[in-house]
Amino acid sequence: MADITIKGLTFEPFISREEIAKQVERVAAEVKRDCVSENPIFLCVLNGAFMFAADFYRAIDMPKSEITFIRFKSYDGTHSSGEMKQVMGLAENIAGREVIVIEDIVDTGFTALELLKTLEALYPISVKMVSLLYKPDSQKCGKKPDYIGFEIPSKFILGYGLDLDGQARGLSDIYVLKKDN
Ligand code: IMP
Ligand code: MG
Repeated sequence: MADITIKGLTFEPFISREEIAKQVERVAAEVKRDCVSENPIFLCVLNGAFMFAADFYRAIDMPKSEITFIRFKSYDGTHSSGEMKQVMGLAENIAGREVIVIEDIVDTGFTALELLKTLEALYPISVKMVSLLYKPDSQKCGKKPDYIGFEIPSKFILGYGLDLDGQARGLSDIYVLKKDN
């Protein structure tokens, strides 16, 4: 795998598609094992989680479950703005449902915290979160996902759904910003 340049910044290969596929299978098996109902509702947080959600949802293979989508935005360039915007709201009624949020990455944890607060006010039986990636050293509000694909250092990454100002989401592997930019 070669380096790539996006918006004038150079990124190097970090997590291969094979490693991603392996951890997606593992977390899907863990989430499935812990589900108390056979019809939980999965909530994919757009835009970043769309690719992980597609692979995870196929891997979990629960035909009576549902998946729906919500959109949040907090990143500006390569830094978290710290300010949350709910761009596309939740249309489904989650009262009495087992809810599992699918995130691409938990960085400061503000998005996760805000989202979980919003969802808990809607009377679900339970809300859990699965995140493909987690940056423990960036954590600012104690919100750790219940299930994690990879714990990674606090560096900016992209690919496999993750973007830099909307670009690079379609890459099959994950890349990390090189030090010498
Ligand atoms: P948090 O609220 O700081 O935890 O950030 C959450 C959101 O910021 C994630 O859902 C991503 O969309 C975005 N984000 C965090 N870290 C990265 C990164 O390294 N690359 C691209 N997007 C990121
Ligand atoms: Mg996200």
